Amino acid sequence: MSYKNILITKEQTIATITINRPQKLNALNKSTIQELHQAFSALEQNPDIKAIILTGSGEKAFVAGADIAEFADFSIEEGIQLSAQGQDILFNFVENLKVPVIAALNGFALGGGLELAMACHIRVAADTAKMGLPEVSLGVIPGYGGTQRLPQLIGKGRAMEMILTAAMITADEAYRMGLVNHVVAPEELLAYCNEIAQKIIKNSPSAISMAMTAINANYKEGENGFETEIKSFGRCFGTVDFKEGTQAFIEKRKAVFTGE
Ligand code: COA
Repeated sequence: MSYKNILITKEQTIATITINRPQKLNALNKSTIQELHQAFSALEQNPDIKAIILTGSGEKAFVAGADIAEFADFSIEEGIQLSAQGQDILFNFVENLKVPVIAALNGFALGGGLELAMACHIRVAADTAKMGLPEVSLGVIPGYGGTQRLPQLIGKGRAMEMILTAAMITADEAYRMGLVNHVVAPEELLAYCNEIAQKIIKNSPSAISMAMTAINANYKEGENGFETEIKSFGRCFGTVDFKEGTQAFIEKRKAVFTGE
């Protein structure tokens, strides 16, 4: 599969997706969203891939938002469709992926860009990155899950302030609020994300996927996270990874997980 707006590289079991429209600050147009969906979907189905890093090309932006030029003359129905489809094929899709995704925020993460980072499982920012949900300054609101995921990550009061003021925050402010897990020098960003990925890929892929499902369950309407945890915990006992993990511990050797 060849892509126009994204680049994919693979190093052993870690894949990196780079959103590659630097002349538009990697803004998410429709075809980029489609390509990201296809790429995430293909990587999830590839049993060799155990972690994904998502970043933006160039030094300036991770993603400067949804492509404003593309939706400027949309009707109400088209607006609903844009939000619903985007949430379905990209933002919720990434959040519910079986493979963990680490967002490497190399610059502006605004609007849909920050929403995409928030749909990822872990966020690391370069100290030069700036984040914000500026939608109300355009007469619209965050439509790719931002009104829901930002309060989940930083609390309702802070999320209200960020969304209502449309203000940008620095990487350090984002770190203090718990919006990003780490802040590093720009030149260390990808290596740092890779280090986190290296720690993840040592573990059981099936257990990782079930842990993410259980954590996400707390935030899903009508789902009881504790019950999901009980079921997922039980399912682990039926996996090859569990047999291997426990056997390896008893035999004092390193486990070799297959994800089965
Ligand atoms: N959608 C479409 N195009 C975008 C974009 C977006 N969200 N963000 C940036 N671009 C384009 C600009 O239109 C410009 O294209 P051009 O050179 O063809 O005119 C190019 O990217 C560079 O952006 P520019 O604004 O010139 O860079 P800057 O350094 O002066 O400002 C930002 C950087 C991020 C502050 C500014 O681009 C911006 O405010 N972008 C929109 C952010 C936003 O509101 N996002 C939420 C959308 S819902």
